[in-house]
Amino acid sequence: MVSPGPASYGAVGDAAIGIAGGQLVYVGPRRSLPDKPEKCARAVRRLGGAWVTPGLIDCHTHLVFAGNRAAEWEMRARGASYEDIARGGGGILSTVRATRAASEDVLVESATQRARAMARRGVTTIEIKSGYGLESESEKKMLRAAARAGERAHVRVVRTFLGAHTLPPEFKDNRESYVESVCEQMIPAIARERLADAVDGFCDKIAFTPAETERVLAAAKTHGLRVKLHAEQLSDSGGAALAAKFGALSADHLEYLSDVGVAAMAKAGTVAVLLPAAYYFLRETKMPPVEALRRAGVPIAVATDCNPGTSPLASPLIALNMACTLFGLTPAEALAGMTLNAARALGLEREIGTLESGKCADLAVWNISDPAELSYWLGLDLLRDRCAGGRFDKDGRTS
Ligand code: NIG
Ligand code: FE
Repeated sequence: MVSPGPASYGAVGDAAIGIAGGQLVYVGPRRSLPDKPEKCARAVRRLGGAWVTPGLIDCHTHLVFAGNRAAEWEMRARGASYEDIARGGGGILSTVRATRAASEDVLVESATQRARAMARRGVTTIEIKSGYGLESESEKKMLRAAARAGERAHVRVVRTFLGAHTLPPEFKDNRESYVESVCEQMIPAIARERLADAVDGFCDKIAFTPAETERVLAAAKTHGLRVKLHAEQLSDSGGAALAAKFGALSADHLEYLSDVGVAAMAKAGTVAVLLPAAYYFLRETKMPPVEALRRAGVPIAVATDCNPGTSPLASPLIALNMACTLFGLTPAEALAGMTLNAARALGLEREIGTLESGKCADLAVWNISDPAELSYWLGLDLLRDRCAGGRFDKDGRTS
């Protein structure tokens, strides 16, 4: 049992942070500073004892998409299931139709709004997946839009290719050819054009089989891309163990994860990314095996899964709350899940995720008196300021 209180966060009281060239150059007690800060620093910002955390990292989103699925949400409210809707040609495919039809500029516009909403809640890094194009040009359009939205919202964007999200309608009777085009055409092109750092897939009964997923993960590796996987969201398909076999950065969702999957992830160092808002929004009742993950020492990350079908959520703080209320994480575990462990899920733990000298100057300054408040309040504006890559949002402005 982790004892509550600031100590469980590894917090430093009466601290000072030094920033130079977009990097943290000092993090520690104020009294140990070499000299009076006014003498050696170009600017000194007094935070008056406010809590500062690493900038939040949302390590699993589908932030770029066109339209919304409010009508399907109403159908679900009247009893249809996510699976029924997907099998009827709706679900992911209805967003594919809208996204294919949208221009890149339109995608940038709506994704920027969502990224800004995240930034206003302390996010400095967002992972964004493709997967609503399902053909080469539309997938690339999504990935370009992701980068542009990140620049406009002043957040770091990490891009993931999700061509194996679902089977597009034109390949309905030819699964094999679609998987082949993902592996032989799309992945090589995405890698060559450096449009993504990783490849993801959806291994489940309404998407791709383990054998098909294996081909996709193998192609990713061949082309030097990292891998991650939507696994065990709706059923136990063995996806997490498969992902672990490929040294995946993360396996995500995991409600139906078995003990075999937990053991495989622990052995491979694969991060478990929990997405409590999708669990909530689908009214899922099967919980991911949090205690087994803890016992096995699998790092646990928490993300919004922001997407139009299963998690229309643009607030990382609400995801933290849900991770605690629905999955039983402690507030300290939830915060680690959106900082340190989220960085691991992106393979960026050397650059972001903690406040340490040498890492990027990505931080969030909060109007709170206890860090547990980050996962306690629902809907309050807790962020006082945010620094991304050494630049404070409120620089030059009076607040
Ligand atoms: O993370 N599971 C697959 N992909 C998304 C949902 C995408 C959608 O419904 O549009 C998820 O839940
Ligand atoms: Fe997802």
